[in-house]
Order: sequence, then C-alpha cells, then structure tokens
Amino acid sequence: MSTATTALSGELAAKSAENILEIRGLTLNFKAGGNTIHALRGVDLTLANGEILAIVGESGSGKSVTGLSILRLHGKTATMAGSINFRGRDLIGLDEEEMRSYRGGKIAMIFQEPMTALNPVFTVGFQLAEVLKLHCNLDRAAAEKRSIELMNKVGIPEPELRLKSFPFQLSGGMRQRILIAMALAAAPEILIADEPTTALDVTIQSQILRLLRQINETEKTAMIFITHDLGIVAKLAHRVAVMYAGEIVEYGSVAEIFSSAKHPYTQALLASVHDAPRGQKLFAIAGSPPVLTSLPAGCAFAARCNYAEQRCNATVTPQKMANRMWRCIRA
Ligand SMILES: Nc1ncnc2c1ncn2[C@@H]1O[C@H](COP(=O)(O)OP(=O)(O)OP(=O)(O)O)[C@@H](O)[C@H]1O
Ligand SMILES: [Mg+2]
Repeated sequence: MSTATTALSGELAAKSAENILEIRGLTLNFKAGGNTIHALRGVDLTLANGEILAIVGESGSGKSVTGLSILRLHGKTATMAGSINFRGRDLIGLDEEEMRSYRGGKIAMIFQEPMTALNPVFTVGFQLAEVLKLHCNLDRAAAEKRSIELMNKVGIPEPELRLKSFPFQLSGGMRQRILIAMALAAAPEILIADEPTTALDVTIQSQILRLLRQINETEKTAMIFITHDLGIVAKLAHRVAVMYAGEIVEYGSVAEIFSSAKHPYTQALLASVHDAPRGQKLFAIAGSPPVLTSLPAGCAFAARCNYAEQRCNATVTPQKMANRMWRCIRA
C-alpha cells in the first residue's frame, strides 16, 4: 500500500467525524421453499463523508445484498430489519415513493452485471436522458447538454457521437463508463459500486479505478466499493469491511487491515493473495463457507479456521476499538 493512501486514511479519519451513512443491526432473510436464507446477520457499518469503504469477501458472503439493501432493492422475497440511517433519516422506514427519490438520486449504484444494466434497445443518450429527466427534471435540450458534460467527465471521447450509440456498439470499458456517468447524473452523495471492474481487462480496470478515485477526490462522493480483489482495495479504499457468511467479521483502515489483520479469515484472505500466482485473484482457502439456511451458533468460520477451539462454537462477541472491529474471541 502506498504512503499516499496511508496519509489519506489518516487525514480522512481526522476530518470525517460525521458519518453520511450508519447501518445498524441490518438483517436480511430470504424465504426459499420452506427454508430461510440468512443473507445478512446484524451488519453494522458506517460510511464517513468523502470516504471510500471497500467491502470484501468470498462469493455469497453478502456483499451485493448489503449494497442492494441500502437502496431497498433486495426484492420481495426478503424481509429486512435494523436501521439504515442516511443523513439522519432511516431509509428502512421510508415508503416506496420516498425511497425512489433517493435511488439514483442521493444514493446511486453501479450494479454487478454491466451487460444487463444497460437496455440493449435504447441508445446510451436516451438512457442517460431518462435518468436526468427523472432526477434532475431537465428538458430534452438541457438533458443532452448535461449528458455530454457527464460523458466528458467519465472520459468518453466524442460524446456527441457516442450519445447515438447502442450499448452493443461500445466496448466493455466504455459501457462501464456510461454506467458510471448514469450513476453520477444526479450528483449522488453516495456511490455504491458493485464489482465495477471485474468483467474488464487489467488496463481498462486501472483506468476505471483511476476515474472513481478522481470522482471521489473532486466531487467528494463517498463510495462503497464492493470487490473480491484485495489488490483493488489497497489501491483505492480508505477503509475495509470483511464479510463472511452474512456478517462483517472485521473492519478497519486499509493500513490496519493490511498490516495487522486480527481475524483468521482476513489473514487467510491476505495470505491467499500473497500465495496466488500472478494475475490470479480467486480466493483459495480450504473448505467452503457454511450454508446460509443452517448456520452454526458460534463463529461461522470455525469449521475452516486453523486456530478454532471448543469455545469458538459459542456465540461470538465482537471486539471493538475506535474505528476497528473483529469478530473473533481468540484474536
Ligand atoms: N433474491 C435472492 N433470493 C434468495 N437468495 C438470495 C437472493 N439474493 C441473494 N441471495 C443469497 O444471499 C447470499 C449473499 O448473496 P450476494 O449476492 O450478496 O453475495 P456476494 O457476496 O455479492 O457474492 P458474489 O461475490 O458472488 O457477487 C447468497 O447466498 C445468495 O445466494
Ligand atoms: Mg455480488
């Protein structure tokens, strides 16, 4: 991790006493057949003004549903409890109409599936204009002008021409830039980016990460960046939350997590990155996560943990220090 990132983390910690988002005890259950899928189990998270918080974890750990829950896009088969406080308002208590004004407005999301997030039958100009009409109340001419500004901002060459393109006429990197432009259309205060670079090749990936970093710095947009790639976390984020089986098992600044991870799962993730052949980003921790329909009473990672003891099977009380938490009784 660069010293610049470390310095930035310190600077942010000092100035961002105010949280723009506070999630407390967030629980999300899906009904499937006769079973309950415990997708989120008491998630506590804060996002400070202007910060980039990364959420990392293996596939199925609950990263996407955390992002979707903030916008209440978790679907009708789920029940949600807890609180999601955005600038003093609990989003869980809002009715659907009020919620719609937040979605894509004050809080925007770049979804995990870049190919399906754009409608193939409309030009990108039309799709950008729709967002601008909805959230910014702009007429056609003003929407086109603003679309061109947004496309310039996200580094799309010849925006006037590109407005007339259909999604299939653009490269993957360009499509992702369009999605970022759409997310930025209403100047959101929070941008949730769900694996926005996973489908892109490495060069384009770096360009998109640089763009997001630049947006964070110039617009002061706070970001929740969801990824399974710890290399990206080190490059981009100020703080990290590590998820496992629907829980946050550890959080701290990027510097703290990379230099002194406390939870054996975080340590295993970091080790798997160091051990992985170059270019390989998949986690390779022996065993697999527990089934979310029948979770153990104690630590969910115990079955895969090299340090597990008898007492790990009892309820785990998270250990907390200022801006630092780990859910392990041993650490
Ligand atoms: N609509 C749904 N109905 C039932 N279960 C769901 C639904 N959406 C998500 N889940 C379950 O919730 C859990 C968390 O899913 P989520 O998509 O958040 O994982 P993730 O951490 O984003 O994984 P990935 O890295 O693969 O994107 C998974 O077990 C998933 O199967
Ligand atoms: Mg996901």
